[in-house]
Amino acid sequence: MTISLNTLARRGAQVLALTALTALTALAASMASAQTPGKLKVGLMLPYTGTFASLGNAIENGFRQHVTELGGKISGREVEYFKVDDESDPSKATDNVNKLIKRDQVDVLIGTVHSGVAMAMAKAAKESGTLLIVPNAGADAVTGAMCAQNIFRSSFSNWQPGYAMGEVMAKKGIKKVVTITWKYAAGDESVRGFKESFEKGGGTVVKELSLPFPGVEFQGLLTEIAAAKPDAVFTFFAGGGAVKFVKDYAAAGLKKSIPLYGSGFLTDGTLDAQGEAADGLFTALHYADSLGTKRDNAFRLTYAKTYKLQPDVYAVQGYDAAQMLAIGLNATKGDASKAAEISAALGKATIDSPRGPFTISKAHNPVQDFYLRQVGAKENKKVGIASAKLEDPARGCKL
Ligand code: BEZ
Repeated sequence: MTISLNTLARRGAQVLALTALTALTALAASMASAQTPGKLKVGLMLPYTGTFASLGNAIENGFRQHVTELGGKISGREVEYFKVDDESDPSKATDNVNKLIKRDQVDVLIGTVHSGVAMAMAKAAKESGTLLIVPNAGADAVTGAMCAQNIFRSSFSNWQPGYAMGEVMAKKGIKKVVTITWKYAAGDESVRGFKESFEKGGGTVVKELSLPFPGVEFQGLLTEIAAAKPDAVFTFFAGGGAVKFVKDYAAAGLKKSIPLYGSGFLTDGTLDAQGEAADGLFTALHYADSLGTKRDNAFRLTYAKTYKLQPDVYAVQGYDAAQMLAIGLNATKGDASKAAEISAALGKATIDSPRGPFTISKAHNPVQDFYLRQVGAKENKKVGIASAKLEDPARGCKL
């Protein structure tokens, strides 16, 4: 076969044009990817089943509410969600968090509710360098001995609400208290915080009762409370367990004779189910249903319209986790791996939260007001400030 010179020249020109086009396409693609970072992969590790299921859902709702307000993007990166149900089970926590870190390769972890699960998340976050924002679990160690540049909390430490309530009860002149809680980090540390301020204020904890998480067989322990005849009881329970405890306490006839106090989780997100058994209870927490500020009213209205539910403290903490993420990533042009820059930005920030403005301590825990609340008409009504601008002591943190 003979090929003319003309044909050869045409084919050569075609090959050259094709090569140039391929090179141009590759260049355009690489310029585009340099200008537009990929999606921001957010790993939500929360309880969607079990006694804390409603808490996990409220945190996710709150987080999504703020991301929606930002147009679905944080620092210009479209948010893509990856979800794992942690079941509030510490024995599955390391495997679960690795699904998000190793399999899904998320940029940031948001989780969780249960202190024991959160400690496993903090360990994995520290080892892998993945940014972690804890939207509930109060484990003192997370912003104490385990603190790290890339680990933050939008909620509280277990020490904080316990300490705030101890101050209130000591000031009321209460002298003898029995404590009752679940035997795990959140219960133990809430009681420790309570005891620290209550005993400093002149009170005595005469008995510390507990049962394994998430047990709800309270009868034997209620009999012990009745026999001890303290002036009052201090407790930490949350979610489904808190509903059952408050109802059992009232049904046992103790509510009238031995006043019940708690960290505010006892009555947050639980009032519909607790009914009149919760009426009149005093608790301390960093949120209340009746703050009445412009900021909180707007948050509550949008939440109620979007989810057909009333928000609670968990929804606020999820919302603020998204606010903190946006503040941090705006300082790094969306790069979640720059922990030192994120830490510096959050260290300077005041978070405009529905709970009221708060700042972030050097150990990365909120410094915030704790409200004294009383239950009335299915609301946790603010009746005063239990402890203003309370900062966790961050014992063991070396940041
Ligand atoms: C915790 O395990 O830290 C926790 C769980 C529910 C409410 C508050 C704290």
